[in-house]
Amino acid sequence: MADTLTKLAYQALQQGKSLVGVAHKEVSTKLMELVAPQGSPKTRPIPPQMLMDLQAANAALMEIDWEEAEQGLYPTSLLFDAPWLDWAARYPMVWLDMPSTWNRRSERNVTDLPTDLDSAGYPDYYLQNFHHQTDGYLSDHSASLYDLQVEILFNGTADPMRRRVIKPLIQGLRAFADRSPSQLRVLDVATGTGRTLRQVRAALPQAQLVGLDLSAAYLRQANRWLSQLPNELPQLVQGNAETMPFASGSMQGVTCVFLMHELPAEARQAVINDCFRVLEPGGVLVLADSVQLADSPQFETAMDNFRRVFHEPYYRDYIGDDIDARLAAAGFSGIRATSHLMTRVWSATKP
Ligand SMILES: C[S@@+](CC[C@H](N)C(=O)[O-])C[C@H]1O[C@@H](n2cnc3c(N)ncnc32)[C@H](O)[C@@H]1O
Repeated sequence: MADTLTKLAYQALQQGKSLVGVAHKEVSTKLMELVAPQGSPKTRPIPPQMLMDLQAANAALMEIDWEEAEQGLYPTSLLFDAPWLDWAARYPMVWLDMPSTWNRRSERNVTDLPTDLDSAGYPDYYLQNFHHQTDGYLSDHSASLYDLQVEILFNGTADPMRRRVIKPLIQGLRAFADRSPSQLRVLDVATGTGRTLRQVRAALPQAQLVGLDLSAAYLRQANRWLSQLPNELPQLVQGNAETMPFASGSMQGVTCVFLMHELPAEARQAVINDCFRVLEPGGVLVLADSVQLADSPQFETAMDNFRRVFHEPYYRDYIGDDIDARLAAAGFSGIRATSHLMTRVWSATKP
């Protein structure tokens, strides 16, 4: 009985988030058409069949999210975990930030970054306003809005999609079953504000967690969220995922969520290669990113609209890329992939 009620509460919460996300996008799109029509993106209408496919995929995502919690892979409380008060307080900021986003879009200005930025140490491809975001990834302001913006973009499914890395990660770590849980090191590459680490911490309370990102501002935000959790504080390190400041063979697990589509092809391969290098033989890499044309042709319009609405300069190349081949080229074996709504999750082992 308690389980049924909790499941109903979870489904109601997800439906509520979905309604808020859809309503927010409807109203903000209408407002942009009115106030800044020249910046309004030309999107393609979503075919009715695709809407039905999206609804079915969303329902399947909720079901697997619930089932894997029931199986004990992570606590059920994680399904309800979100900084509600903080998001409510920040929501007006999302609206206040919109006019500058529309301006950048109208002017096709994708390099509107903080004027005091020292660009040394950042690859060129990074110095852009991804998603037309104010300051790109390079300010505390951007970091303070990011989680809420992603939550709205994915209609509340971002964490359920991120949580799909947990099962393959736990399965992969079984290769080290003879070690105590506290001896396992798991690295989250491009951790951003640490939402994936938050999911992983709930599933692996004793593991040593490390998060890497290029953005000091996003790492500061990650530190704020993660330091509220019990258990050992994850180590947060600023660095480029192509050449990570970690010893070869020093990690037993690596996760990387929503990075691949923001990289040019060569950098994508370089990141996968470096994930291979830092893993110990037997270790597991779990990658999660947008679905692609080959595995989810039914969502082609949604993928196309995504790159029309947001500044995502490498997305078109990414959705046609062969990630399995890249993993194999890096040396990985046991490559598997599954799709969950708009996210594809790959797992692969270092032989
Ligand atoms: C779309 S966000 C994803 C963040 C997080 N994984 C999540 O699930 O929300 C992309 C992140 O990748 C980081 N990033 C982009 N290129 C990078 C690179 N070459 N090395 C390290 N981090 C990078 C950005 O700073 C940003 O935090």
